[in-house]
Amino acid sequence: MKAIVTGGAGFIGSHLVDSLLDENFAVTVLDNFSTGRVENLEHVWEQVEIVECDLGVQGDWIRHFDNVDWVIHLAALADIVPSIQQPEAYFKANVEGTFNVLQAAKTAGVKRFIYIASSSCYGIPDNYPTSEDAEIRPQYPYALAKRIGEELVMHWTQVYDFPALSLRFFNVYGPRQDPSSPYSGVISLFAQWAKQGKAPTVFGDGLQTRDFIFVSDVVKANLLAADFQTSEPAPVVNIGTGQQTNLLELWELICGAACTEVGEPHFEEVRPGDVRHSVASTQKAKS
Ligand code: UD1
Repeated sequence: MKAIVTGGAGFIGSHLVDSLLDENFAVTVLDNFSTGRVENLEHVWEQVEIVECDLGVQGDWIRHFDNVDWVIHLAALADIVPSIQQPEAYFKANVEGTFNVLQAAKTAGVKRFIYIASSSCYGIPDNYPTSEDAEIRPQYPYALAKRIGEELVMHWTQVYDFPALSLRFFNVYGPRQDPSSPYSGVISLFAQWAKQGKAPTVFGDGLQTRDFIFVSDVVKANLLAADFQTSEPAPVVNIGTGQQTNLLELWELICGAACTEVGEPHFEEVRPGDVRHSVASTQKAKS
């Protein structure tokens, strides 16, 4: 079996590549290395075909889709605040990039297409835990662009009978998550501060909650989903744990006994676009 992982040099993508190799897939990674890192794939460099390309522009990379069974489309610009500052870059990468990948996969007749969507599409929902049929309310350009990408993919399932499924990831954490930007995932930043013995910055009162899910769990969900045949039109599934953790609890869990030495977090203004709570209904994923 052959698989393409777009964004395969990224934090989540590189873990997915590892698992596909374990399952004896021939794997091709398409990545522009804007946020993906060579180090994430160094240990499998000899086993993977790596194509550096810009998916926002149609190009020669399309030929790599020939005879591919599965496409897992992870390549995207993430992070909320930068998306408010540069919406055009987000539209290009997350909407046009998805359109181009989708067309390449459709033309090649792939067997399965998994779109990695974001829980941010729910915005501030009416109900927690939030199920897949909740109203879509993107609060910032990143959330909107990921949602438009999902709509494209789902539209293709209906118009062209395209074999796709969308997985809405909640807050993923784990090894290889890059803490180098102030907008990096909060667990990677808290872990970095704890290691340096420094107090973290908390935006807001720290009582906002997230559904944090470990990267190997989302990888497992991805492989199961790719293998799963469904007759549901436009299938979308939440991938979270169903458990909420607030940021103060999170900091305690990460720095543990050292917390008192490190001192109290610094509290700053809530960031633009930030939602108060987020937690997945996992019923559909379970069933
Ligand atoms: C959001 C999306 C998620 C998306 C991700 C992409 C929601 C519910 N989630 O994650 O779907 O994949 O963006 O980037 O919209 N924080 C601090 N201190 C820090 C860093 C962060 O207090 O140093 C706070 C943030 O203000 C936020 C929480 O921690 O309240 C989580 O932040 P982050 O890890 O960036 O993820 P989301 O914003 O939840």
